[in-house]
Amino acid sequence: MSLSDKDKQHVQSIWSKASGRLEDIGNEALSRLLIVYPWTQRYFGAFGNLTNAAAILGNAKVAHHGKVVLGALDKAVQDPEHITANYASLSELHSTKLHVDPDNFRVLGDCITIVLAAQLGTGFTVELNAAFQKFLDVVIAALRKQYH
Ligand code: HEM
Repeated sequence: MSLSDKDKQHVQSIWSKASGRLEDIGNEALSRLLIVYPWTQRYFGAFGNLTNAAAILGNAKVAHHGKVVLGALDKAVQDPEHITANYASLSELHSTKLHVDPDNFRVLGDCITIVLAAQLGTGFTVELNAAFQKFLDVVIAALRKQYH
């Protein structure tokens, strides 16, 4: 699986359209994950009150962690040639320490896509959507790499 130059340009274009809003996008995507797919809450026991949508949307730890996740994605956008190598320790962490079921990577990817689509409106064209999906495929494969 690899990204063409065109895919990379499309992903850069999404990122520049979303610039300045990336932190909010991370928070909204992670909140959406926890609300729409509530089984994912089990991994975030240290985050305090996640008992309902309002609590999740107002949870500062969720907001902070959303920013952290988007920061990792930003690294992948900026250096698309080395996603697997750059994500090796993150994959190890999610596998051996956090024991995150890797199917959840896809679900979070979908949440990020939905939030981007809502933010960019008609600017999130079908071509950009397709390239972003390929980009997520590469990111998810990298995150799954250390699972055995
Ligand atoms: C921690 C990225 C998906 C659960 C982290 C960290 C990063 C990250 C950068 C911080 C690592 C550190 O502190 O060294 C990502 C990316 C994802 C992803 C890029 C997919 C696009 C998920 C999913 C779950 C999850 C789907 C669970 C459903 C966690 C947990 C932590 C964590 C529980 C530790 C949080 C804490 O206690 O601070 N992740 N993650 N991650 N991730 Fe992920």
